[in-house]
Amino acid sequence: MTSKTILITGVAGFLGSNLLQRLINDGHKVIGIDNLSMGLEANFGSAADSENFRFVHADAMHKSTFDKINEDIDVAVHLAAFKIPRYGNAIDTLKINYGCTENILDFCRAQNTKCVLASTSDVYGRNPDVPFSELHSNSVIGSSKSPRWGYAVSKLFDEHLALAYQDSYGFPVTLLRFFGSYGPNQPLSWWGGPPPVFIHSVLNDKVIPIHGDGQQTRSFTYVEDTINGIVAAIMRDEANGEVLNIGNKEEITILELAQRVKTACGTPGELKYELIPYESFNGKKYEDVMRRVPDTTHSEKILKVKANVSLDEGLRKTVKWQIEAMKTREYGKV
Ligand SMILES: NC(=O)c1ccc[n+]([C@@H]2O[C@H](COP(=O)([O-])OP(=O)(O)OC[C@H]3O[C@@H](n4cnc5c(N)ncnc54)[C@H](O)[C@@H]3O)[C@@H](O)[C@H]2O)c1
Repeated sequence: MTSKTILITGVAGFLGSNLLQRLINDGHKVIGIDNLSMGLEANFGSAADSENFRFVHADAMHKSTFDKINEDIDVAVHLAAFKIPRYGNAIDTLKINYGCTENILDFCRAQNTKCVLASTSDVYGRNPDVPFSELHSNSVIGSSKSPRWGYAVSKLFDEHLALAYQDSYGFPVTLLRFFGSYGPNQPLSWWGGPPPVFIHSVLNDKVIPIHGDGQQTRSFTYVEDTINGIVAAIMRDEANGEVLNIGNKEEITILELAQRVKTACGTPGELKYELIPYESFNGKKYEDVMRRVPDTTHSEKILKVKANVSLDEGLRKTVKWQIEAMKTREYGKV
C-alpha cells in the first residue's frame, strides 16, 4: 500500500487515537487536530514519538486552525464532535457539530481532498424496525422539545452538508454511522457509553447503574473492528459517496451487557445493579432508543471488512486495558 498523508480531527479522542496508532503502524503520515476538550494526549501512546505524526493543538471551530495545515492531504477524517449524553450540552453539540464540519468541508474543498466523516447510529432515531439499513431505513427523530435528539439532528445535518458539498464541488465524501464502539482509550465515564461505566462499577464492587429497565438493546463494536472500517473507508474508492454502517451485528440487552462485563472482569459474587428511571434525568424523561442494531450487508460489500471480535473477547481486552488505565487516569473526568 502506498503511504498516504491523512488529516484526523479529534485525534486525541477514543477513535481518533486508535486510528492514529493504526495508520502510523501501517506507515502513513498523520496530521492530527484536537483542542483536548475531551481527548487526552496520553492517548497518543507510542505514536507521540513518531516522526510521521504532527499534532496541532487547536480548535476545529476556528477556520484559522486549518491554515496551520500546509501539507498536501490525501484524505481527511473528521471525528471531532460533541455529543449529548443524558446530562445536557445541547448548544455545544449543535454548534460544534455544525461548525467543525463546515470548516473541514471547506478545507477539503480547497485541497480537493476526500473527506471521511463520523456520523452515528443515533441518526436512525427511534425507528422500530431493526436491523437498520443505510439503504432502506428512515431516520425517525423525536420531538424538538426533547434535547437528546439534537445530537442525531446535528449529525444528520452534517451528512446532508457533506453530500451537498460533494455534489456542488466534486470532491468525494464518505459518511460512517458508528454503532457503540468500545475498547482501549475509551473515555472513563458515560462519555464512553455503558462499557467503561459498567467495568468501573464491577472492578470497584459498586452497583452498576442501568438506565430504564435494561431491556433496551444495542450492538457493541470492539474498536479494532471500528478502525478496520474507517481504514477501509479511507483507502477504498468504492466508499466514495456512500453512507455506511460500521458496527457489530450482535444485539444484546443492556442488562445482558452488565452480566457479560461481570464475567469479563472475573470478580467474585453476584451481579449488582440498580435500575434508574428515565424520569430522573435533568427532571425530564429521557427518550431512549429501545432497539439498535446495524444491517451491515451494504458496508461489508463496499468495504470488504466485517466486525469479527466477539463481545466476550473484546470485553476481556478492554477490562485488561481499563485496569491499567485507572492507575493513571481519573475516572469520570469527562
Ligand atoms: N465512539 C463511538 O462509539 C461513536 C458512536 C457514534 C458516533 N461516534 C462519532 O465518532 C466520532 C469520534 O468519537 P469518539 O468516541 O472518538 O469521541 P471522543 O469524544 O473520544 O473524541 C472526540 C475528540 O474531538 C475533540 N474535539 C471536540 N471538539 C473539538 C473542537 N472544536 N476542535 C478540535 N477537537 C475537538 C475532543 O477533544 C476529542 O478528543 C465523533 O464524531 C462521534 O460523534 C462515535
